[in-house]
Amino acid sequence: MHYKTLGRTGLSVSVAGLGCGGHSRLGQAYGNTVEQSIAVVHAALDLGINWIDTAAAYGTEKIVGEAVKDRRDRIMISTKTAILPWGQPSAKPYSGVEILEQLEKNLGRLGTDYIDLYNVHGLVHEQLPYVNAEIVPALIKAREQGKIRFLGVTEHFGSDTNHKMLSAAVPTNAWDVVMVGFNLLNPSARRNVLRLTQAHNVGVQDMFAVRRALSNADGLKEALDQIEKAGQLDRSKLDTADPLGFLNEGTDGIVDAAYRFCRHEPGIDIVLTGTGNIDHLKENVNSINRGPLPSKSLARLEELFGQVDSVSGN
Ligand SMILES: NC(=O)c1ccc[n+]([C@@H]2O[C@H](COP(=O)([O-])OP(=O)(O)OC[C@H]3O[C@@H](n4cnc5c(N)ncnc54)[C@H](OP(=O)(O)O)[C@@H]3O)[C@@H](O)[C@H]2O)c1
Repeated sequence: MHYKTLGRTGLSVSVAGLGCGGHSRLGQAYGNTVEQSIAVVHAALDLGINWIDTAAAYGTEKIVGEAVKDRRDRIMISTKTAILPWGQPSAKPYSGVEILEQLEKNLGRLGTDYIDLYNVHGLVHEQLPYVNAEIVPALIKAREQGKIRFLGVTEHFGSDTNHKMLSAAVPTNAWDVVMVGFNLLNPSARRNVLRLTQAHNVGVQDMFAVRRALSNADGLKEALDQIEKAGQLDRSKLDTADPLGFLNEGTDGIVDAAYRFCRHEPGIDIVLTGTGNIDHLKENVNSINRGPLPSKSLARLEELFGQVDSVSGN
C-alpha cells in the first residue's frame, strides 16, 4: 500500500480508502450479513487501508465501529452528517446546536470519542452561505473540544456535475479536506476543484471512480447517452460494440483502468473504493497501487471526455 500526506491535515493516509456508502454499503445494500460486512472492513485493514469513509445516511457506522474497535488508534474515520434530515429536501436545516447533537449520534454509533474527519454531507451551492455562518462555527467548537480533528465537506455530484459548490467552498479555507466526484468520464474537477485544493493545501478524497457507469455495461450506456445528449460526445469516435475497449491495452480491464486513472491525478490523495465483496476489494487495492495508464490511453480519454462536465456516472 502506498501512503500520502492528506493536505494541510498532515495525516499519512493510504491512497486507497474504503467507502462504506455508494450502491454497496459494504454489501448491506444486497444482503451481506453484518458479519460479512465487518469482514470486508477487516480485509481492507489487512491490505493496509487506514482510511474509512462512512456517513449517518449509509447505515454502516455501527459496522465500522464494531470492526475497528481493537485498532481505533491505527485507523482514521471520515464520517458525515447532512444539514437536513436525509431524504427530506424541504425540511428546515439543522442549527449549529442540532448539528452538534447529530455529531453525538455519529460518535455513539461509531463507538468512539473522536472523529478524524467530520464532513458536511452532499452540500449544494445554495446552502453554502448558511453553512459558513451557522454550521462551521459549531464544528470549530467541536474541534476545540477534541470531538473532531478536521473539517470536511462533500459535494452532491449527482446534481452538481461541474462542482459549483466546491469551487466556491475551497477558497473560503474553512475546510481541511473535500470529497469530489472525479472519474474518466467526467474529469472536470481537474480544472474546477483540484487546481484550487492544491493552491490551498486542502486534502482530497475522490468518489465515483467507478460507480455504475464503469462497472456495468448498462450503466456505461446510460452515461454515454447522457453525455451525448449534453452535446459533449462525438459518438462516431467510439466503437459501438465496445466503447471503452481501447482501455484494455496495458490494463486488467475498465475497472482497473478507472481506479488507476483517478489514483494518478495530481491533487487526489485518497481514491475511495466502495464494495461489499472481498475479491473486488483486493483487485481494487491492487489497481489503486499500480502505475498510471499508458499515455496512449490517457490521450484518447482526454480527446473523448476531457471537456465533459455533465454526468456523474452514478
Ligand atoms: N456525497 C457524498 O458524500 C458521497 C456520495 C457517494 C459516495 N460517497 C463515498 O464514496 C465512496 C465510493 O463511492 P462508491 O461506493 O460508489 O464506489 P466506487 O468504487 O466508485 O464504485 C463501487 C461500485 O462498483 C462495484 N465494484 C467495485 N469493485 C468492483 C470490481 N472490482 N468489479 C466489478 N464491480 C466492482 C461495486 O459493487 P460490489 O459491491 O459488487 O463490488 C459498487 O457497485 C462511497 O462508498 C462513499 O463512502 C460519498
